Amino acid sequence: MLMKANSAAVGDCTAVIGTQWGDEGKGKIIDMLAAEYDVIARACGGANAGHTIVVAGKKHVFRLLPSGCLHEHAQIVLGSGMVIHLPTLIEEIDLLRQAGIDIVPRLKISHEAHILFDFHKLLDGANEDHRAKTGKGIGTTRRGIGPAYCDKAARIGIRMERISENLAEDLSARKDTLQRAYGITIDVDAECRCIEESAKIVASSVTDTVAFLSAMRSSRKHILIEGAQATLLDIDHGTYPYVTSSSTTVAGALQGLGLPPQCIGEVIGVAKAYCTRVGAGDFLTEVQGETGERLRERGGEYGSVTKRPRRCGWLFLPDLQRSAMINGCTCLNITKLDVLDTEEVIRIGVGESQGKAVYKDFAGWMCSTAGVASYERLPKNAQVLIECIEMETGVPIRYIGTGQGRGEMIIR
Ligand code: IMP
Repeated sequence: MLMKANSAAVGDCTAVIGTQWGDEGKGKIIDMLAAEYDVIARACGGANAGHTIVVAGKKHVFRLLPSGCLHEHAQIVLGSGMVIHLPTLIEEIDLLRQAGIDIVPRLKISHEAHILFDFHKLLDGANEDHRAKTGKGIGTTRRGIGPAYCDKAARIGIRMERISENLAEDLSARKDTLQRAYGITIDVDAECRCIEESAKIVASSVTDTVAFLSAMRSSRKHILIEGAQATLLDIDHGTYPYVTSSSTTVAGALQGLGLPPQCIGEVIGVAKAYCTRVGAGDFLTEVQGETGERLRERGGEYGSVTKRPRRCGWLFLPDLQRSAMINGCTCLNITKLDVLDTEEVIRIGVGESQGKAVYKDFAGWMCSTAGVASYERLPKNAQVLIECIEMETGVPIRYIGTGQGRGEMIIR
């Protein structure tokens, strides 16, 4: 019933991509699909992502390993487009190990991915503090993402293929510049020690993931691409400059993994039934006051990495249409529909006039949809809302989330 790569689709890989500003709840659909895939791959970004994973009955936030990593049959790939903070990765590996899961033998880390050092995090924080003073803070996660991608683009980054080398010379070369320009001190010894320790654990996982993925495809294995962040945070197509520093679209994922475009079959675009954003930047349909507060509390809208309260508002169709266009979504997963159960009036932004959102209002259903697992059992008003989104985007809504639990999903 759950579908892996649509047999009618051209390619054999499936991508799950966020269509809003992240935190759409991609983890749940990944979890449902993962059982049917042989490889789960992350392409871009770093420890700015955050998904809650339940390990041995306890909730943990994972940042680097994809949320599908608990599926013990699956090979896990961290792709070339990523920036990897090794202490965070080691922490996640350890956590799994404590729960009896040894992920290392099935973990493949691209030798082309970049190492994100502690000094990148310091730099991110310093940049953010400086911007905040001038009222132009981006509200980054302070995980060093921007500075690590800066180094990569400036061609002074250090890639994972060098994990077993002594990097003291390269890091010392950076030390003076950073000290002079930012007053930031790189602790070269500590960084080197950390890389050395990490190498003992993960050096055997560092490999040519492009060749690995290609070999997987040749042997007809199925690959699930787990998008990180989301389309409106994309460095090119997002709400620049209030974006992250990587390419978060399906094209970015292909680039980040070194997969050819024709490998893509299914692109599942994930959108909340409303909308949230962490960090600064335009949010035309943001709702303040009681309604915004209610959405935040009902939806548990607090950042999983930074714990910041997420800004909440209504779904904005033009953004969803644009994301579907950029990613070529073959279907949508609308998540957290049940969060809207208590809304008398549900608004959907359909356009913009003089800098303000233009809305279409829908009558709410005012009853619980929590856990509803068949479309026919959804209240009529909820069906009207779903069908409007479907009609306006031209993309079929195949999955509808109605709660946190595994079964709490309508599949159409
Ligand atoms: P950075 O990726 O840490 O540089 O942050 C840039 C912007 O992207 C900030 O507004 C962050 O809040 C946002 N962001 C980065 N990663 C995520 C994510 O996984 N979910 C939601 N927002 C994110």
